Amino acid sequence: MNVLEVKNVCKKYSSIKKVNTIALKNINLTLENNEFLGIMGTSGSGKTTLLNVASGIDKCDEGEINIWDNNICKMKKNELSVFRRNNIGMVFQDFNLLSSLTVKENIMVPLILDKKYEIMEGDIVNKFANMLDIDEIMEKYPYEISGGQQQRVAICRAIINNPKIIFADEPTGNIDSKSAEKVLSYFELLHDECNASILMVTHDPFSASYCDRVVFLQDGSIIKEIRKQGDKVKFLNNIMEVLQEFNTIKFKNGANYEKSII
Ligand SMILES: Nc1ncnc2c1ncn2[C@@H]1O[C@H](COP(=O)(O)OP(=O)(O)O)[C@@H](O)[C@H]1O
Ligand SMILES: [Mg+2]
Repeated sequence: MNVLEVKNVCKKYSSIKKVNTIALKNINLTLENNEFLGIMGTSGSGKTTLLNVASGIDKCDEGEINIWDNNICKMKKNELSVFRRNNIGMVFQDFNLLSSLTVKENIMVPLILDKKYEIMEGDIVNKFANMLDIDEIMEKYPYEISGGQQQRVAICRAIINNPKIIFADEPTGNIDSKSAEKVLSYFELLHDECNASILMVTHDPFSASYCDRVVFLQDGSIIKEIRKQGDKVKFLNNIMEVLQEFNTIKFKNGANYEKSII
């Protein structure tokens, strides 16, 4: 069963100078139920555009996007925002927490918007906070906690409504490698224990090695796809081979790959 189907999707951006950027060219992609899918590609390859279009943040010019058989391209604005709140959890590179709210209040925002008071009063918030190891910081404000903790709060907020899909755009991009490993281990936990379906954009091979399958984007097109066979270390090697094959990674002498783990 596919939770997400992206069919023949095209997207271009037009600027005032009438220079059009074709960001996505006829993309076809599926996310299976309980799959952890990675999207890789260099900066500007269209990763964020794909994630934004697939999650309904932005509209595509052509094609169709189905989330559990609901074509979100056909939804009206209000219908789409309710649908997104109930079915989609988002995690961003810069966390997007509300600075004037405490950790606990941030997590509850989706529940408040949907008037799900019974969940707020129940155990679920505490259960997830405990799972993500943020239960000790529930009364703190975002500026009082580390980047890694902020990202775990953002993940907690993303899953509080029990979404069908979690979309994450470079979730480890703004945190140190140790915190990144912790964040990734929580995605792994959500995937393994809570049957979450996750679509994660990253340009970091180490993060991508946590996925079941990785799709590679270049200039708005999918150029390759590989599936995990064996463990993370083996998958990391396969990912590196693909990146080298397509010359999107260069080491030391011509480093254009700023987050190389080597
Ligand atoms: N709002 C925008 N207006 C115009 N061009 C954009 C906009 N957002 C992205 N682009 C362009 O679209 C292409 C894909 O961008 P993006 O999806 O952000 O790539 P990535 O996330 O892989 O770095 C790039 O050439 C980028 O400059
Ligand atoms: Mg991006």
